[in-house]
Amino acid sequence: MDKLRIRGGRPLIGDIQISGAKNAALPLLAACLLSDETLTLTNLPHLADISTMANLLAQHGVDIRLNGDEGAGSQGRTIELNAGSITSLEAPYDLVRKMRASVLVLGPLVARFGQAKVSLPGGCAIGPRPVDLHIKGLQAMGAQIEIEGGYVLAKAPAGGLTGAEFVFPQVSVGATENLMMAACLAKGQTTLVNAAREPEIGDLAKCLIAMGAVIEGAGTDRIRITGVDRLHAATHEVVGDRIEAGTYAMAAAITGGDLHLLGGKLDHIRAVATALVPAEVVFQETEQGFRVRRANGALHGVDVMTEPFPGFPTDLQAQMMSLMCVAQGASMITETIFENRFMHVPELMRMGANITVHGSSALVRGVPKLTGAPVMATDLRASVSLVLAGLAAEGETVVNRIYHLDRGYERIEQKLSACGADMERLRETS
Ligand code: EPZ
Repeated sequence: MDKLRIRGGRPLIGDIQISGAKNAALPLLAACLLSDETLTLTNLPHLADISTMANLLAQHGVDIRLNGDEGAGSQGRTIELNAGSITSLEAPYDLVRKMRASVLVLGPLVARFGQAKVSLPGGCAIGPRPVDLHIKGLQAMGAQIEIEGGYVLAKAPAGGLTGAEFVFPQVSVGATENLMMAACLAKGQTTLVNAAREPEIGDLAKCLIAMGAVIEGAGTDRIRITGVDRLHAATHEVVGDRIEAGTYAMAAAITGGDLHLLGGKLDHIRAVATALVPAEVVFQETEQGFRVRRANGALHGVDVMTEPFPGFPTDLQAQMMSLMCVAQGASMITETIFENRFMHVPELMRMGANITVHGSSALVRGVPKLTGAPVMATDLRASVSLVLAGLAAEGETVVNRIYHLDRGYERIEQKLSACGADMERLRETS
């Protein structure tokens, strides 16, 4: 398994091109199942998770054409997807278990073909991650659903799904996306109440509307969809990745550097910028994106609590913790979205961090410096938090199992090395 060797202590200075968002591209890819005409997506990031979703769609019988260099410049790649001749309505366990976002094929398959057999995704490192809200929402639209042998067996009535009002008992990004897609082809109006408001939801709605869907309120907590008979071809540019941008913003802050994040949208991480003002990190909007640097040298500890958008994103919690490890003073970091998202803590402590976990909160006491060490990546965002710590640490850090990293960060060592990082990928032949 590949490793990443980092020699820390060098400020990162320069421009980084932000790629298309993984968490927008995944539902956008699944949306192709809603039409028999071609969906073209541009600015597609070159990531392992994207390949996994493309493989899943291909085994359903989707015709896929992929062109353009891997992450070349700001263009990303272009993919053409045609679900005009679907051959299978089953999403098998061996593919779904690799990436739980595969469950996003459920809504489109039931809505367009009247049935689907999708493996339950199972949990992952950060929690059990059930899909009960996806199921309850489809049942509200008339789908008959059974769980059998680890699979969700879903069947729409003969006339297809019917619009319904569904109130989410808790905010769910994936369930909002699944139900919004299914509702596009349901009969009548669907209202999703307490819907997720993440920018990726808005991006998906923008694409569905370009395909002919009738959707209002995406980006608010109340989304209204009026079903149509069919969706048609469209071309859509994947929105920039706010989590990648937020991650590199923290890379600038933790190394005392100055990064210009091209294509980054400050509005998509406003909660992060606001949280970091008292930490003395400066975000400055520019024509091409936004710049991030420290105000006057010192970092100060601040408290954060993760929340659904527009709150502080759970996907930047681990990165924030790394930053707070070298701040002056203490910081209380509370994770409210996932049950087990502190696995970066023991690894950061190996590097000299001073962190005490109490349930869903971690108290971080800033230390003058971290020291490089061999560490283990456990999940996507935990692994990048270790990269950030390694960039700031004195000495050498080797991050193991960086396949986690490759799921969500396109060309990370190229992007950071171009700004002065001393990083090298060690390919394991074994
Ligand atoms: C999406 O996951 C993202 N993944 C996650 O990013 C992100 O952390 C998460 O939203 C929250 O923002 C993609 O978009 C592909 P949820 P999702 O449904 O949709 C519980 C990353 O690092 N829940 O909003 O799976 C769930 O267990 C990944 O890029 C139910 O109980 O998240 C969690 O505690 C990690 N029942 C909470 O809701 C359900 O049916 C929020 O989950 C669904 C969710």
